[in-house]
Amino acid sequence: MASNSSSSSDDNAPVRVGILGCGHVGSALIELLGERARAIETASGVRLEAGAVAVRSISKDRGIELDESLLTTDAEAVVADPSIDVVVEVIGGIEPARSLVLAALKSGKPVVTANKELLASVGSELYAAAEANGVDLLFEAAAAGAIPIIRPLRESLLAEDVRSIIGIVNGTTNYILTRMAEDGATYADALGEAQRLGYAERDPTADVEGFDAGAKTAIMASIAFGANVVAGDVYREGISTITSKDIESAERFGYVIKLLAIASVFDAGTDEEEIGVRVYPAMVPVSHPLASVRDSFNAVFVEGAASGELMFYGRGAGGQPTASAVLGDLVDAASNLQRGAFRPVPSGPRPSIRAIDDLESAYFLNITVGDSPGVLSEVAGVFAENGISIRAMQQDDTPESEASVAFITHQGRESDIQATLSRLKEHDAVKSINSVIRVIES
Ligand code: HSE
Repeated sequence: MASNSSSSSDDNAPVRVGILGCGHVGSALIELLGERARAIETASGVRLEAGAVAVRSISKDRGIELDESLLTTDAEAVVADPSIDVVVEVIGGIEPARSLVLAALKSGKPVVTANKELLASVGSELYAAAEANGVDLLFEAAAAGAIPIIRPLRESLLAEDVRSIIGIVNGTTNYILTRMAEDGATYADALGEAQRLGYAERDPTADVEGFDAGAKTAIMASIAFGANVVAGDVYREGISTITSKDIESAERFGYVIKLLAIASVFDAGTDEEEIGVRVYPAMVPVSHPLASVRDSFNAVFVEGAASGELMFYGRGAGGQPTASAVLGDLVDAASNLQRGAFRPVPSGPRPSIRAIDDLESAYFLNITVGDSPGVLSEVAGVFAENGISIRAMQQDDTPESEASVAFITHQGRESDIQATLSRLKEHDAVKSINSVIRVIES
């Protein structure tokens, strides 16, 4: 057994891992650990060994080879077991995960977790507990699955002045939007297919309404900007209102629609510093690197003052990709434990959050107006009165007495766009406002 005090005296002692939870990720981790243990030892000198696995049901068939003597329903006992050196938390949710992680950290055991919800709500409490006890808390799998993004932000880019992060960090919604764009599927059909393939849950709310992406945004922003950003700080809109017509309009203007997770820092390093965090569907130019991220793939685009633009791409979900990230963290945690070392999480105090009303974006709007002389100039006048400049416009050749008009604006403040929309809603010539979607330029 390795421990802070004994490991240096016995280099061949295995590091025993207590795994809390054995769902998709936990079982994939146990399999991967079995397959990779020898290669890991050769590469790093660390001998990892599953020591105990806490589950809800002992008898459940997990479809993997597993020594049943490792199974227990007592997760607290796994954490307290002196023969367990490192704890992996893949239960999900806030409790009992929070209490178990805190107990492990307080007893000097490093923790690896894939739990985005936990970190995006009580991350600062856990980071502080890890630092106070001089152990690692690693969570590469909590944002964008197999894609290395947390470690680059924590280590490689620690000295970088990171200005913004724009990511596609939810595979389910990216799959749905890809089917709509490439196969002409409706939202409902694409969601049904995602559910049949196991990407979307029976209740898809967490994915399609942006909660999952919001939690990941909070975690990435916390690390990138050294601030305690929580899920509640993230402005959030999902994709359930996106229609086939929106997808077609995007294509006509040279865009694809993606659910974006965006974190930016404004006036960094000054007393005025603010962080803007938001998740919403947006039109992305087809030439932008994120436009070619298809199906259930994820990508994270980071912009640093000195580094320039960096892009990280890969599988953001699924048992094996997530287990790969957990296993990488385990090797790191075990290796640090043996050396008596750890790396504090570079999160900081609560930041000032810039309200969505004060953020700027370009917008796509689709409205239906009465088709009579002068209507377009009246509508354009409403944009002008509210300081919103129109960049492009297309009118559909619709029959009868109505016209469907699509506008793309230049950058404008959210509050000015909302004022424009309120005014348009009251206008006699405006029959309906059909879509309002933000637009990312270049
Ligand atoms: N449900 C998520 C996704 C994976 O579709 O990307 C877990 O965060």
